[in-house]
Amino acid sequence: MSDKPETDSAEPLPRRNFFKQTLAVILGGIAALIPATAGLLVFLDPLRRKTESAGAIRVTSLTALPSDGKPYKFPVVASRTDAWNKFPDVPIGAVYLRRTGETKIEALNVVCPHAGCFVDFLPSRDCFLCPCHNSTFALDGTINDPKSPSPRPLDTLTVEIRGQEIYVNFQNFRAGSARKIPAA
Ligand code: FES
Repeated sequence: MSDKPETDSAEPLPRRNFFKQTLAVILGGIAALIPATAGLLVFLDPLRRKTESAGAIRVTSLTALPSDGKPYKFPVVASRTDAWNKFPDVPIGAVYLRRTGETKIEALNVVCPHAGCFVDFLPSRDCFLCPCHNSTFALDGTINDPKSPSPRPLDTLTVEIRGQEIYVNFQNFRAGSARKIPAA
């Protein structure tokens, strides 16, 4: 008879089988998740891409912009990409362009920084008026009336003249903020 204590291969058989089966299920689950996750990432990939083209976009030509110093509204047309589709040449916004010199042009985004309505130009008052909550802005976009609820002036945009063509670095900014924060 041996003096060694009896080692326990003493764990009951059904219990060992249970652990083995549980481990197999967990490992099988992980193995199945890897390709599923990779597939999901490929499927959702367009959602992680930028949904709106930005940068210098041709808006109009110098000949189309009168030299009377008044603002004129122009649509901004570009290719737009949503989660899964690309749409060529669709309106993505609008700008007011104003000549301040022969080849000096100012651009303002038409969107009111208060809550995102489009502002109108009022020729009779030589200013912009937002129809939603009556913010008013001067021709250069600065706030005209201290009672205007807009937290900042109209958003200025950079203009480039290329030959006879006017390009605008179009960008939307977050509404309701005192700072110009690019919209995602
Ligand atoms: S959205 Fe323009 S004043 Fe409110």
